[in-house]
Amino acid sequence: MTDARLAALAARLPNLRLLTDPADLEHYGRDWTRRWTPAPLAIALPGDVAEVQDIVRWANEQGVAVVPSGGRTGLSGGAVAAHGELVLSLERMNRVLDFDAVDRTLTVQAGMSLHAVHEAAKEHGLIYPVDFAARGSCSIGGNIATNAGGIRVIRYGNTREWIAGLTVVAGNGKLLQLNRGLIKNSSGYDLRQLMIGSEGTLGIVVEATVRLTDPPPSSQVMLLALPNMDALMEVFALFRSRLTLQAFEFFTDVALRHVLAHGAQRAIDGEHPYYVVTEFDADESSQDAALAAFEYGVDHGWISDGVIAQSEAQAAALWRLREGITESLAPHRPYKNDISLRISALPVFLHEIQTLLGQAYPHFDVVWFGHIGDGNLHINVLRPENLSDSDFIAQCEHVTKLLADTLQRHGGSISAEHGIGLVKRAYLGSTRSEAEIALMRGVKQVFDPKGLLNPGKLFI
Ligand code: FAD
Ligand code: MLT
Ligand code: ZN
Repeated sequence: MTDARLAALAARLPNLRLLTDPADLEHYGRDWTRRWTPAPLAIALPGDVAEVQDIVRWANEQGVAVVPSGGRTGLSGGAVAAHGELVLSLERMNRVLDFDAVDRTLTVQAGMSLHAVHEAAKEHGLIYPVDFAARGSCSIGGNIATNAGGIRVIRYGNTREWIAGLTVVAGNGKLLQLNRGLIKNSSGYDLRQLMIGSEGTLGIVVEATVRLTDPPPSSQVMLLALPNMDALMEVFALFRSRLTLQAFEFFTDVALRHVLAHGAQRAIDGEHPYYVVTEFDADESSQDAALAAFEYGVDHGWISDGVIAQSEAQAAALWRLREGITESLAPHRPYKNDISLRISALPVFLHEIQTLLGQAYPHFDVVWFGHIGDGNLHINVLRPENLSDSDFIAQCEHVTKLLADTLQRHGGSISAEHGIGLVKRAYLGSTRSEAEIALMRGVKQVFDPKGLLNPGKLFI
């Protein structure tokens, strides 16, 4: 170990797993953005809470920055280590610690994958309802740090709603037990909620107590083809008024083209500019209600075609058309916007940005999809072959500035669910006031006095 700081760490924690191999530095130093060149000092893989505390104390003594790291499926550069930081990966801390049948809570270590949390809940006949396509590789700690959303927010809300307690190592190495699973706790500031969405800048989540709930009734999945953008919100209002929705997601024909090229199966023939995947509770009346809503939508010119899944396999195939989009675009390293509006503000806003993006990116492949039922749009821009990476990003940043201004006018957010990370730091001020950002910086100072936890993320 040639670096004296690492030698000091290894001497302090002789059993700590430390990686310095170039392939490991690259693997653990990046997330799904693939925009920055990984250059961490080393990777630490602690096996327990005490080791995490000792690493943070060492970081304070040595002045080494620490990047908390989960599954690195993040899309905002939050887990990127490009400046000699120590990556603190929670991946070895991946066990269930406790299930409480009375409280209906599951306590897990932060490195557990979302899928493993789902499976652990299922063993007790319950569900943890936050869900999205990265479930197999993202961690519950990363979900908490980004306040992850996903495809069931319309029914269950974001990660924030499901966290009953957190154990956190703060920037000074102190251990905090936040909320301890209580349902009611009116005893001052809720530091647990402050930690959720803090992107590893305030503390390292080491354990989480998540709430579980009953599984929903069986459901039906429908794919709809729509003739134009205005129809999206009309169909949403129509279906929401007649069915109990579990999901309402949209994508465009451009997204469909990519996902089909990536192996998904076409489910509706013909060319249609917009598609919706919706899932709703199935009961004795839902089949008729869905068909009646469908016919009403067709009669009003909002729906051009549709298919309702007749089996679980068909439902999965319809979902793949939506959930496979991110992976199908990944080889292009898309420039991603992840924005949100109040649902009521969407119709006017959608028109404005359609015009803006049409003018700004006349020759680029622009892929729209997302959680339209939550007011959350994902806009992915693909780099044309004749444009360098840096020119492409410069053009996209210029457009994001215009998009951020438009969002600000409409009271929206520059980051709905992926976090600010490195990607959106410059636009934080479009969603948060100067006064708010000053308070956020103050909070950071209190939790992490030396500024060693994920420096450069969230704030410029
Ligand atoms: P990482 O990428 O490792 O880290 C993300 C941030 O959290 C970083 O700032 C990191 O420092 C911090 N962090 C990680 N672990 C901890 C910890 N224990 N303590 C403190 N800070 C920590 N996101 C959605 O919200 N909705 C979606 O629908 C969605 N779909 C996706 C689909 C695909 C195919 C992919 C690749 C990503 C998707 N994402 C989605 C984004 C991503 O999966 C989420 O942001 C997820 O919550 C990140 O978890 P992670 O463990 O990979 O975190
Ligand atoms: C999604 O909704 O599919 C995710 O947030 C991933 C993405 O935006 O690419
Ligand atoms: Zn999403």
